[in-house]
Amino acid sequence: MTPRACIIDCDPGTDDAVALWLALGSPELDIRLVTVAGGNAGLATTTANARAIVALAGRAVPVVAGAAGALLRPFEVAAHVHGKDGLAGVRLPDGPPLAPGLAADAIRDVLRAAPYASVTLVGLGPVTNLALALAAEPALADRVAEIVLMSGAWGEGNITPAAEFNAWNDPEALQILLGLGRPLTMATLDLTSQACVTPGRIAGLAAQGRPGPAAPRGGACWQAALAILRALPPSPRMGDRGYPLHDPCAIAWLVAPLLFAAREGFAEMELAPGPSRGRTVIDRWGRTGRAPNLRLLETLDAEGFFALLAARIAALP
Ligand code: RIB
Ligand code: CA
Repeated sequence: MTPRACIIDCDPGTDDAVALWLALGSPELDIRLVTVAGGNAGLATTTANARAIVALAGRAVPVVAGAAGALLRPFEVAAHVHGKDGLAGVRLPDGPPLAPGLAADAIRDVLRAAPYASVTLVGLGPVTNLALALAAEPALADRVAEIVLMSGAWGEGNITPAAEFNAWNDPEALQILLGLGRPLTMATLDLTSQACVTPGRIAGLAAQGRPGPAAPRGGACWQAALAILRALPPSPRMGDRGYPLHDPCAIAWLVAPLLFAAREGFAEMELAPGPSRGRTVIDRWGRTGRAPNLRLLETLDAEGFFALLAARIAALP
Protein backbone atom coordinates (compact mmCIF):
# COMPACT_ATOMS: atom_id res chain seq x y z
CA MET A 1 0.00 0.00 0.00
CA THR A 2 1.45 3.40 -0.98
CA PRO A 3 2.24 5.45 2.15
CA ARG A 4 -0.06 8.43 2.57
CA ALA A 5 1.71 11.77 1.97
CA CYS A 6 1.21 13.95 5.05
CA ILE A 7 2.03 17.38 6.41
CA ILE A 8 1.78 17.60 10.21
CA ASP A 9 1.21 21.02 11.78
CA CYS A 10 1.68 21.02 15.55
CA ASP A 11 2.43 22.94 18.75
CA PRO A 12 4.63 20.52 20.79
CA GLY A 13 3.35 20.00 23.35
CA THR A 14 3.48 16.73 25.26
CA ASP A 15 0.77 14.94 23.30
CA ASP A 16 2.06 16.44 20.04
CA ALA A 17 5.38 14.71 20.78
CA VAL A 18 3.74 11.31 21.20
CA ALA A 19 1.66 11.95 18.07
CA LEU A 20 4.73 12.85 16.01
CA TRP A 21 6.56 9.70 17.17
CA LEU A 22 3.49 7.59 16.33
CA ALA A 23 3.40 9.15 12.86
CA LEU A 24 7.15 8.80 12.28
CA GLY A 25 7.01 5.16 13.40
CA SER A 26 4.12 4.24 11.09
CA PRO A 27 5.06 3.02 7.59
CA GLU A 28 1.54 3.83 6.39
CA LEU A 29 2.49 7.53 6.49
CA ASP A 30 5.01 9.48 4.40
CA ILE A 31 5.65 12.60 6.50
CA ARG A 32 6.77 15.22 3.95
CA LEU A 33 6.89 18.23 6.29
CA VAL A 34 6.37 19.22 9.92
CA THR A 35 5.22 22.79 10.51
CA VAL A 36 4.98 24.48 13.88
CA ALA A 37 2.82 27.12 15.52
CA GLY A 38 2.71 28.56 18.98
CA GLY A 39 -0.01 27.29 21.25
CA ASN A 40 0.97 24.94 24.08
CA ALA A 41 4.04 27.14 24.48
CA GLY A 42 5.57 30.10 22.64
CA LEU A 43 6.75 29.53 19.06
CA ALA A 44 10.45 29.45 19.96
CA THR A 45 9.74 26.62 22.41
CA THR A 46 7.37 24.66 20.18
CA THR A 47 9.80 24.83 17.24
CA ALA A 48 12.76 23.74 19.39
CA ASN A 49 10.65 20.85 20.65
CA ALA A 50 9.53 19.85 17.15
CA ARG A 51 13.13 19.80 15.91
CA ALA A 52 14.20 17.64 18.87
CA ILE A 53 11.24 15.25 18.55
CA VAL A 54 11.80 14.59 14.83
CA ALA A 55 15.57 14.25 15.28
CA LEU A 56 15.19 11.73 18.14
CA ALA A 57 13.28 9.51 15.71
CA GLY A 58 16.29 9.66 13.40
CA ARG A 59 14.26 11.17 10.60
CA ALA A 60 15.31 14.02 8.27
CA VAL A 61 11.80 15.45 7.87
CA PRO A 62 12.02 19.26 7.39
CA VAL A 63 10.67 21.26 10.34
CA VAL A 64 9.51 24.79 9.47
CA ALA A 65 8.34 27.45 11.91
CA GLY A 66 5.15 29.40 11.34
CA ALA A 67 2.59 31.38 13.27
CA ALA A 68 3.60 32.96 16.56
CA GLY A 69 0.03 34.13 17.02
CA ALA A 70 -3.47 33.55 15.73
CA LEU A 71 -4.98 35.39 12.75
CA LEU A 72 -6.57 38.04 14.92
CA ARG A 73 -4.89 37.91 18.33
CA PRO A 74 -1.92 36.44 20.23
CA PHE A 75 -2.01 32.76 21.22
CA GLU A 76 -2.53 31.94 24.85
CA VAL A 77 -0.19 29.17 26.02
CA ALA A 78 -1.02 26.11 28.15
CA ALA A 79 1.95 25.97 30.53
CA HIS A 80 -0.37 24.64 33.23
CA VAL A 81 -0.59 21.41 31.24
CA HIS A 82 2.62 21.14 29.24
CA GLY A 83 5.00 23.09 31.47
CA LYS A 84 7.02 26.14 30.43
CA ASP A 85 9.25 23.94 28.25
CA GLY A 86 6.21 22.42 26.52
CA LEU A 87 7.31 18.83 27.29
CA ALA A 88 6.43 18.60 31.00
CA GLY A 89 10.10 18.81 31.97
CA VAL A 90 11.26 15.94 29.74
CA ARG A 91 14.59 16.98 28.19
CA LEU A 92 15.44 15.91 24.61
CA PRO A 93 18.74 16.39 22.77
CA ASP A 94 18.61 19.46 20.52
CA GLY A 95 17.53 18.80 16.95
CA PRO A 96 19.14 20.25 13.78
CA PRO A 97 18.43 23.83 12.69
CA LEU A 98 15.00 24.66 11.36
CA ALA A 99 14.45 24.41 7.63
CA PRO A 100 14.35 27.93 6.15
CA GLY A 101 11.20 29.83 5.33
CA LEU A 102 7.74 30.09 6.80
CA ALA A 103 5.27 27.29 7.47
CA ALA A 104 2.46 28.59 5.25
CA ASP A 105 4.85 28.93 2.30
CA ALA A 106 6.36 25.48 2.91
CA ILE A 107 2.88 23.93 3.02
CA ARG A 108 1.99 25.58 -0.28
CA ASP A 109 5.25 24.43 -1.85
CA VAL A 110 4.44 20.80 -1.00
CA LEU A 111 0.86 21.14 -2.25
CA ARG A 112 1.89 22.90 -5.47
CA ALA A 113 4.17 19.95 -6.36
CA ALA A 114 1.55 17.32 -5.46
CA PRO A 115 -1.04 15.57 -7.64
CA TYR A 116 -4.78 16.14 -7.17
CA ALA A 117 -6.17 15.12 -3.77
CA SER A 118 -2.92 13.47 -2.69
CA VAL A 119 -1.72 15.23 0.49
CA THR A 120 -3.24 14.83 3.97
CA LEU A 121 -3.00 17.86 6.25
CA VAL A 122 -2.88 16.99 9.96
CA GLY A 123 -3.56 19.75 12.49
CA LEU A 124 -2.54 19.10 16.10
CA GLY A 125 -2.59 22.69 17.36
CA PRO A 126 -4.21 26.00 16.43
CA VAL A 127 -4.63 25.70 12.65
CA THR A 128 -3.30 29.16 11.78
CA ASN A 129 -0.54 27.85 9.47
CA LEU A 130 -2.96 25.62 7.53
CA ALA A 131 -5.50 28.42 7.17
CA LEU A 132 -2.86 30.94 6.05
CA ALA A 133 -1.53 28.51 3.45
CA LEU A 134 -4.92 27.73 1.94
CA ALA A 135 -6.45 31.20 2.23
CA ALA A 136 -3.47 32.69 0.34
CA GLU A 137 -3.79 30.19 -2.54
CA PRO A 138 -7.29 28.60 -2.45
CA ALA A 139 -6.68 26.65 -5.67
CA LEU A 140 -4.24 24.43 -3.77
CA ALA A 141 -7.11 22.99 -1.71
CA ASP A 142 -7.77 20.52 -4.54
CA ARG A 143 -4.35 18.92 -3.80
CA VAL A 144 -5.61 18.08 -0.29
CA ALA A 145 -6.88 14.53 0.15
CA GLU A 146 -8.14 15.03 3.72
CA ILE A 147 -7.71 17.40 6.64
CA VAL A 148 -7.45 15.58 9.98
CA LEU A 149 -7.64 17.68 13.14
CA MET A 150 -7.47 17.20 16.85
CA SER A 151 -9.83 20.05 17.66
CA GLY A 152 -13.17 21.05 19.05
CA ALA A 153 -15.84 19.40 21.14
CA TRP A 154 -19.55 18.84 20.97
CA GLY A 155 -19.58 18.60 24.74
CA GLU A 156 -17.78 20.74 27.29
CA GLY A 157 -14.51 22.46 26.46
CA ASN A 158 -11.17 22.18 28.21
CA ILE A 159 -9.82 25.74 28.09
CA THR A 160 -13.22 27.35 28.70
CA PRO A 161 -16.49 25.61 29.53
CA ALA A 162 -17.46 26.15 25.87
CA ALA A 163 -14.28 25.66 23.86
CA GLU A 164 -11.42 23.25 23.20
CA PHE A 165 -7.91 24.74 23.31
CA ASN A 166 -6.86 24.46 19.63
CA ALA A 167 -10.16 25.74 18.28
CA TRP A 168 -10.32 28.49 20.93
CA ASN A 169 -6.80 29.73 20.15
CA ASP A 170 -7.66 30.48 16.52
CA PRO A 171 -11.37 29.98 15.77
CA GLU A 172 -11.23 32.06 12.57
CA ALA A 173 -8.55 29.76 11.19
CA LEU A 174 -10.67 26.70 11.95
CA GLN A 175 -13.69 28.34 10.31
CA ILE A 176 -11.61 28.81 7.15
CA LEU A 177 -10.78 25.08 7.06
CA LEU A 178 -14.41 24.10 7.74
CA GLY A 179 -15.46 26.16 4.73
CA LEU A 180 -12.97 24.68 2.24
CA GLY A 181 -15.19 21.87 1.06
CA ARG A 182 -12.41 19.28 1.42
CA PRO A 183 -12.85 16.06 3.43
CA LEU A 184 -12.26 16.98 7.06
CA THR A 185 -12.05 14.56 9.99
CA MET A 186 -12.13 15.81 13.55
CA ALA A 187 -10.97 14.08 16.73
CA THR A 188 -12.75 16.16 19.35
CA LEU A 189 -12.40 16.11 23.13
CA ASP A 190 -15.37 13.74 23.17
CA LEU A 191 -13.22 11.20 21.30
CA THR A 192 -9.89 11.85 22.98
CA SER A 193 -11.44 11.45 26.44
CA GLN A 194 -11.68 7.73 25.51
CA ALA A 195 -7.85 7.59 25.29
CA CYS A 196 -6.99 8.36 28.90
CA VAL A 197 -3.54 7.72 30.37
CA THR A 198 -3.49 6.34 33.91
CA PRO A 199 -0.60 5.01 36.01
CA GLY A 200 -1.84 1.48 35.38
CA ARG A 201 -1.98 2.08 31.63
CA ILE A 202 1.56 3.46 31.69
CA ALA A 203 2.81 0.41 33.59
CA GLY A 204 1.23 -1.82 30.96
CA LEU A 205 2.73 0.23 28.15
CA ALA A 206 6.17 0.15 29.73
CA ALA A 207 5.97 -3.65 29.78
CA GLN A 208 4.96 -3.77 26.11
CA GLY A 209 7.79 -1.85 24.42
CA ARG A 210 10.38 -3.69 22.41
CA PRO A 211 11.03 -6.89 24.45
CA GLY A 212 14.62 -7.28 25.56
CA PRO A 213 15.85 -8.71 28.89
CA ALA A 214 18.97 -6.54 28.98
CA ALA A 215 18.20 -3.33 27.10
CA PRO A 216 15.40 -1.02 28.30
CA ARG A 217 12.23 -1.86 26.48
CA GLY A 218 12.14 0.35 23.40
CA GLY A 219 14.53 3.01 22.19
CA ALA A 220 15.04 6.65 23.14
CA CYS A 221 11.72 7.78 21.61
CA TRP A 222 9.75 5.21 23.59
CA GLN A 223 11.57 6.01 26.81
CA ALA A 224 10.93 9.73 26.23
CA ALA A 225 7.28 9.06 25.39
CA LEU A 226 6.84 7.07 28.63
CA ALA A 227 8.55 9.85 30.58
CA ILE A 228 6.14 12.36 29.06
CA LEU A 229 3.12 10.18 29.88
CA ARG A 230 4.33 9.84 33.46
CA ALA A 231 4.69 13.64 33.71
CA LEU A 232 1.20 14.53 32.46
CA PRO A 233 -0.79 16.37 35.14
CA PRO A 234 -4.17 14.93 36.21
CA SER A 235 -7.07 16.39 34.24
CA PRO A 236 -9.72 17.99 36.52
CA ARG A 237 -12.24 17.40 33.76
CA MET A 238 -11.49 13.67 33.64
CA GLY A 239 -11.15 13.05 37.38
CA ASP A 240 -9.68 9.62 38.17
CA ARG A 241 -9.96 8.53 34.53
CA GLY A 242 -6.52 9.99 33.89
CA TYR A 243 -5.25 12.40 31.23
CA PRO A 244 -6.66 12.27 27.68
CA LEU A 245 -3.98 11.65 25.06
CA HIS A 246 -5.39 14.05 22.48
CA ASP A 247 -3.13 14.45 19.44
CA PRO A 248 -2.13 10.79 18.87
CA CYS A 249 -5.84 10.04 18.25
CA ALA A 250 -5.68 12.10 15.03
CA ILE A 251 -2.65 10.13 13.82
CA ALA A 252 -4.21 6.79 14.82
CA TRP A 253 -7.18 7.58 12.55
CA LEU A 254 -4.80 7.69 9.59
CA VAL A 255 -2.89 4.56 10.60
CA ALA A 256 -5.65 2.32 12.00
CA PRO A 257 -9.11 3.67 11.05
CA LEU A 258 -10.80 0.42 12.15
CA LEU A 259 -10.16 1.49 15.74
CA PHE A 260 -12.82 4.17 15.30
CA ALA A 261 -16.51 4.64 14.63
CA ALA A 262 -17.44 7.90 12.94
CA ARG A 263 -20.40 9.83 11.64
CA GLU A 264 -20.90 12.81 9.37
CA GLY A 265 -21.84 16.14 10.90
CA PHE A 266 -21.95 19.87 10.40
CA ALA A 267 -19.79 22.28 12.37
CA GLU A 268 -19.43 26.02 12.48
CA MET A 269 -17.45 28.24 14.79
CA GLU A 270 -18.70 30.64 17.44
CA LEU A 271 -16.62 33.74 16.63
CA ALA A 272 -18.43 36.43 18.61
CA PRO A 273 -16.67 37.84 21.68
CA GLY A 274 -17.98 36.35 24.90
CA PRO A 275 -17.99 33.15 26.97
CA SER A 276 -18.67 30.89 23.97
CA ARG A 277 -16.04 32.29 21.59
CA GLY A 278 -14.04 29.47 20.04
CA ARG A 279 -16.75 26.86 20.49
CA THR A 280 -17.21 24.36 17.70
CA VAL A 281 -20.99 24.29 17.31
CA ILE A 282 -21.41 20.72 16.11
CA ASP A 283 -24.62 19.28 14.66
CA ARG A 284 -24.47 15.46 14.80
CA TRP A 285 -28.18 14.91 14.16
CA GLY A 286 -28.97 17.01 11.08
CA ARG A 287 -30.93 19.52 13.14
CA THR A 288 -29.59 22.53 11.20
CA GLY A 289 -30.42 21.07 7.80
CA ARG A 290 -26.92 22.08 6.71
CA ALA A 291 -24.96 19.75 4.44
CA PRO A 292 -22.30 17.81 6.38
CA ASN A 293 -18.85 19.43 6.32
CA LEU A 294 -16.88 17.01 8.48
CA ARG A 295 -16.48 13.47 9.74
CA LEU A 296 -16.65 13.20 13.51
CA LEU A 297 -14.71 10.41 15.23
CA GLU A 298 -17.17 9.19 17.87
CA THR A 299 -15.75 6.07 19.49
CA LEU A 300 -12.28 4.57 19.91
CA ASP A 301 -11.01 1.09 20.75
CA ALA A 302 -8.71 2.32 23.52
CA GLU A 303 -6.93 -1.01 24.04
CA GLY A 304 -6.12 -1.18 20.33
CA PHE A 305 -5.04 2.47 20.34
CA PHE A 306 -2.52 2.06 23.16
CA ALA A 307 -1.24 -1.23 21.70
CA LEU A 308 -0.64 0.59 18.39
CA LEU A 309 1.14 3.40 20.22
CA ALA A 310 3.48 0.96 22.00
CA ALA A 311 4.20 -1.12 18.89
CA ARG A 312 5.01 1.84 16.64
CA ILE A 313 6.94 4.11 19.01
CA ALA A 314 8.91 1.29 20.65
CA ALA A 315 10.19 0.36 17.18
CA LEU A 316 11.75 3.82 16.73
CA PRO A 317 15.41 4.49 17.63
O1 RIB B 1 -7.19 20.53 23.61
C1 RIB B 1 -6.12 19.65 23.37
C2 RIB B 1 -5.21 20.19 22.31
O2 RIB B 1 -4.64 21.41 22.75
C3 RIB B 1 -4.02 19.28 22.02
O3 RIB B 1 -3.63 19.45 20.68
C4 RIB B 1 -2.95 19.79 22.94
O4 RIB B 1 -1.64 19.53 22.44
C5 RIB B 1 -3.22 21.26 22.88
O5 RIB B 1 -2.58 21.78 21.72
CA1 CA C 1 -1.29 20.00 20.17
